[in-house]
Amino acid sequence: MAARKKAAPRAIRQDAIALLKAEHREVEDLFERFESARTGARKEAIAAEVCAKLTVHAQVEEELFYPAARSVLPAADEDLVDEATVEHQTVKDLIAKIGTMSAADDLYEATVKVLSEYVKHHVKEEEQELFPKLRKREVDLTALGQRMAQRRDELLARVERVGRPPKGRTGAALSA
Ligand SMILES: [Fe+2]
Ligand SMILES: [Fe+2]
Repeated sequence: MAARKKAAPRAIRQDAIALLKAEHREVEDLFERFESARTGARKEAIAAEVCAKLTVHAQVEEELFYPAARSVLPAADEDLVDEATVEHQTVKDLIAKIGTMSAADDLYEATVKVLSEYVKHHVKEEEQELFPKLRKREVDLTALGQRMAQRRDELLARVERVGRPPKGRTGAALSA
């Protein structure tokens, strides 16, 4: 178990977009692992991890990345940030729902699958529409990436301290 845990490349300085893309790939990988997991306990453990990572990811985007995007994008492109923010709420609702379920529930796998597909759609819009627009703007993505990595690590440490988020609480924002 411990052997599989790769050291997170936290020492590497990533710009904000590279950091978010790496997290997107990490979450996609977890969803694949969920699909191939054979036992309910394993599925629940992977779902708890993916929900915790998504919660932290969304919170860092909302606290730091989206406001930075709003501050440099023209008004017309701010719609993308509005849409992304609304989509986060749906992601959080699904995470909260999964937190109340167990692998024994009839709709458990379907609910995780819907979350996975929804996240895929959301990620595609971020990566294909929002990120390229932001790359063209005057914004220090390296400094932003550093602040985001720091905030993510703070929030992840909190999740780890409290253990796996208790059922029903995975969708809640981690309070400052
Ligand atoms: Fe997002
Ligand atoms: Fe994202």
